[in-house]
Amino acid sequence: MRSISVSSPGKVILAGEHAVVHGQLGIWVAVDKRLSITVQSVDKGLKIASSHDSTELAHYAIMKIGEIFGENIDCLEINIDSTIPVGSGMGSSAALAVALTGALTKYYKKPWNIDFINETALTIERKQHGTPSGGDNKVVTLGGFLKFRRQQDGTAEFEKITNYRKIENLIVIDSGKPKETTKEMVEKVTELYKSDQARFSSIFSRIGDISQSFCDYIIKKNEVNVGELIGENHRLLCELEVVSPKAQDIIKKIEQVGGHAKISGAGGFKEGSGVLLAFHKEPEKLQYLAELEKWKIIPVTLGAEGVRED
Ligand code: MEV
Repeated sequence: MRSISVSSPGKVILAGEHAVVHGQLGIWVAVDKRLSITVQSVDKGLKIASSHDSTELAHYAIMKIGEIFGENIDCLEINIDSTIPVGSGMGSSAALAVALTGALTKYYKKPWNIDFINETALTIERKQHGTPSGGDNKVVTLGGFLKFRRQQDGTAEFEKITNYRKIENLIVIDSGKPKETTKEMVEKVTELYKSDQARFSSIFSRIGDISQSFCDYIIKKNEVNVGELIGENHRLLCELEVVSPKAQDIIKKIEQVGGHAKISGAGGFKEGSGVLLAFHKEPEKLQYLAELEKWKIIPVTLGAEGVRED
C-alpha cells in the first residue's frame, strides 16, 4: 500500500491585511502550526477523514486537483490532521489547499513544482475567499517571512526575506472565532472602499507604509517602534470595521498594561476577530494578563518551513 505525507504551515500577518487586496504591501509570516495530509491507496472509493472540520473544502479541492492533473481521483484514503486553528486568520484553508496539492503531486508522481502548487492552491482558495490576494497560499507554500504585494493586473510581486532580524516579544492571542468568513470580510471592506474611495485609499496606503517600516526593521535593521506600528495598524483596521467590539476590548486591556495588538488575517465584526498579534516589551505582563482574563495564548514560532514531504 502506497502512503504519502505532506504538510504545510499556518501563518500570521505582521502588517497589511485587507490593504494588500487593494494593491498595498503586506508582510506574511509562516508559523510552526502545521496541517498534514496523508494519502494512501485503498481498493475502492474515496475516503476523506479530517480533524480539521473542512471536509467540504477538501472534497472540492481534491476534485479540482484531479481536473487539473487529468486524473480520476479514486481508490484513495485521505487523512487531514491539523494544529492550525480553523477560520481564525491563521491560514488553515490555504494550508489545506497547498498540502493537498503537494500530497497529490507526490502521489501521482508529478514534478514537484512550487509555483504550480501555489497556483493550483490559489485556484482552490478562490472558491473559499472570492478574491484572495494570494499572500496566504504563497507564504504557506514558501514558508519563512514574505514581503507580498498584489499588482493591479492580479499578478503578485513578492520576496522571501531570508536574512531577517528576529522580532522578539510577539504573542498570539485568540479573540474568538469570527462569525463571518474571510470572503465576507474582504467584500465588506471593498464595499466600504467603494463608498469613499479617497478616505479608504488613504487608509490602505498608511497600512502599506507600516508594512514598509516593518520591512526596513526586519531587512535593513532600521530602528522602529514595533509596538507603535502595531498600535497604528490596529487603529486603521478599526476604521476598516474588521475588528469586533470584543477584540477591541481585549486590545484596549493590552494597551492599558503598556502593550499593543492587532488582528492578524481578515478579522471579524459580530463576535470574535480570530487571532491577535500582541506585543509587549515585557511579554510576561501579557502572559499574566491573558491568564487573568482567561484568554487563550497560541504559542507560535515565526518563520516556519513551507510545504514539504514528511
Ligand atoms: C487574509 O488572511 C488576509 C486578507 O488580506 C485577504 C487576502 O489577502 O486575501 C484579509
